[in-house]
Amino acid sequence: MKITVVGGGNVGLVSACCLADHGHQVALVEKDHVRLSALKRGRPPFYEPGLEDMLGKVLSDKTLVVTNELANTLPKSGITFVCVGTPSMRDGSQNLSQLSRAAKEIGGCLSAVKDFHIVVVRSSVLPGTAEGIVRRSLEKASGKVAGVDFGLAMQPEFLREGSAIYDSLNPERVIIGEFDKRSGDALEALYQAFYNGKAPIIRLPTSSAELVKYASNAFLATKISFINEIANLCEDISRADVAKIAECMGLDSRIGPKYLNAGLGFGGSCLRKDASALLDYSNRKGRPLNLVKEVLRVNDGRIRHLLKMLRHQLGNLRGKRIAILGLSFKPGTDDIREAPAIKLIRELLKLKAVIVAYDPAAISSARAELGDSIKYAGSASECIEKADCCVVATEWPEFKRLKPEDFLARMKRPIVIDGRRVYDHEQEAFSRKLRYVAIGLNL
Ligand code: UGA
Repeated sequence: MKITVVGGGNVGLVSACCLADHGHQVALVEKDHVRLSALKRGRPPFYEPGLEDMLGKVLSDKTLVVTNELANTLPKSGITFVCVGTPSMRDGSQNLSQLSRAAKEIGGCLSAVKDFHIVVVRSSVLPGTAEGIVRRSLEKASGKVAGVDFGLAMQPEFLREGSAIYDSLNPERVIIGEFDKRSGDALEALYQAFYNGKAPIIRLPTSSAELVKYASNAFLATKISFINEIANLCEDISRADVAKIAECMGLDSRIGPKYLNAGLGFGGSCLRKDASALLDYSNRKGRPLNLVKEVLRVNDGRIRHLLKMLRHQLGNLRGKRIAILGLSFKPGTDDIREAPAIKLIRELLKLKAVIVAYDPAAISSARAELGDSIKYAGSASECIEKADCCVVATEWPEFKRLKPEDFLARMKRPIVIDGRRVYDHEQEAFSRKLRYVAIGLNL
């Protein structure tokens, strides 16, 4: 099938590569010049495991072409996936300007298309957007009628950064929001063939499909904030350990073990953005989601909580050398958007602490954000050198290689605050030789 994908961000690029790798003829339309030329050279503009290889392969197979010319590509394809960004405004609401622009341009191209072309919104948008602003723009710019002259659908994505290709190839569900049955039928056929019948496909009205995405991300955020509140409680209960509580809770299949890792809270470009947008939407609807409001408030309190732990260990933080292990919002990515480590560093700098940080992938993104206000180490062991305290802010697997002896030998004071529960405190050396303090743990 000939497919157009608009927007070379995470969702657009990963989806385009996976579809092309499956033998579809895909055109990826990207307007940003820098991004476009990187993509043409086979360089993904962000780090995603396996993506560079896949991009190289589909470009050399010529099943993927990267272009900035929608008008040349859309009429040759039968379906267009719209994967542009929908960033947050200051008040938490969504900025739909990229989506409006894309819909207008797609509409303009549709006017010359004779066949039934299907437009699928893949950007995360709140209920009513696909059939509202997108449909209106498409109809106005094309002079055609949605559901009659062209098809309209919305398909939320559930890709996680760092495992986006895996998630794209092994979805736990494919949600098709259809405005018209013909589009729903075509998408169902596309995905039945793509996943060989192995992924559950659920067809819904577009508004429900739109809400599935927000409800899912808000619920994941809720699980994380819930366990973080339990972690706070554990810290005040003799010999309590939130990791054990979570493990036991997770064995109940009604609860499940995932998203119960207590820590410095959720970061990244999605959970906060989507929970805030849902909250803003619910307020406007007059049905405020108070639970989601609390989830965000609890998450905002994680950095304050860690600062309290640091002060408890070090007293005044002015001039104290603090080693921060991990800068990205989670392991497996160089993305520092909403990263707890960055928020923590900003607060520590206000308190005049001296920061040395290390991350296996995110140093250059952090440098772009923090410049020379902190020192950057070339390895985890260099990072902890002469430090008054070490904070683990992201659970990169390589941090596990640091042994109690390493902290003892290298640090000025062997104090470790494990913000992500990376180390096994049951190893005697951790509790005996070091001052080991961890989120949700009362030794
Ligand atoms: C999230 C969702 O998991 C995806 O399904 C969704 O498609 C994506 O947002 C999106 O809307 O585009 P992602 O932002 O890549 O994916 O990150 P997650 O892996 O969900 O992690 C989010 C944050 O929660 C990270 O900072 C992570 O450290 C934190 N987290 C996660 C915890 O603190 N505890 C946990 O138990 C799990």
